[in-house]
Amino acid sequence: MLETKIEELRKKVSEWKRDGLKVGLVPTMGALHEGHLSLIKKSVEICDKTVVSVFVNPIQFGPSEDLEKYPRNIEADLELCKKAGGDKCEIIVFAPTPAEMYPDANIMSNDFLTYIAPPFFYSNKLCGKSRVGHFDGVCTVVMKLFNIVQPDSAFFGQKDAQQLIIIKKMVKDLNVPVEIVACPIVRDGQGLALSSRNKYLSEDGRREALVLSKILSNIKACYNKGIMDVNALCETAFSFLNEHHQLEYLEFVDRETLENKTVADSDTLVLIALRVDNVRLIDNCFIN
Ligand code: PAJ
Repeated sequence: MLETKIEELRKKVSEWKRDGLKVGLVPTMGALHEGHLSLIKKSVEICDKTVVSVFVNPIQFGPSEDLEKYPRNIEADLELCKKAGGDKCEIIVFAPTPAEMYPDANIMSNDFLTYIAPPFFYSNKLCGKSRVGHFDGVCTVVMKLFNIVQPDSAFFGQKDAQQLIIIKKMVKDLNVPVEIVACPIVRDGQGLALSSRNKYLSEDGRREALVLSKILSNIKACYNKGIMDVNALCETAFSFLNEHHQLEYLEFVDRETLENKTVADSDTLVLIALRVDNVRLIDNCFIN
């Protein structure tokens, strides 16, 4: 069930396609948790065969980000995928090396690699502001995976809302023949959105991290009481923050175009990013 070579994976997938089977792709960076599993289960449910890619994509990490220390555990990932597939669906875990994905020269420089650059308007705000070039790296690797696997459907989490919107835009703009399936955010019992980076949190940090989902629920509650002015909604949110939280952004945007809102309405997506224990966490919700 593990495949590391592009050519071998292609052979397998083309056999599936010859048999008329529907192929799903779940792109991940590994360290799989229940959030990833929900995407895999959705693919197993609606496709005949599923490819789960596990690849910590170097070109989406900035120079000061956690590429080296990003959690990796392929054995555990394989176990989880085996369980998720059961007898119902064959799953291939595609875990290439960086050299397999980027064989040419210096991959960290776009002097040597053809990049997919999403529109600046989409990529230069929210997470893109502090992570310059991040979404070019994401779109480039996702497009490569689409070309390698040629899936009928690909599964992405609402957890990374900006990423999902940008990938949908790329697929539309470039006429990529794939259906993008959005999957809801999976949270722990206390409301913290699951993330591979939650592993970096201390016990206290984990408690402090609940502030993200608390702020989002509070904003929803205020909106439902009739407060629609974005400044007023932000003010109520700020009262939840303390010295353990370094807010990066709290923004209200259109759920499809990412245009900023000054007055919240039923199309509004609220996104938040903040650091706890120097761990960068993100969360979001639709306002109604
Ligand atoms: P990664 O962070 O591993 O996430 C893989 C997929 O799992 C993404 O679509 C993400 O939104 C989804 N996911 C993560 N946590 C989730 C949660 N709590 N609930 C629901 N879905 C969740 O996102 C990436 O990797 C990379 O940027 C990638 C798309 C693989 C490109 O390298």
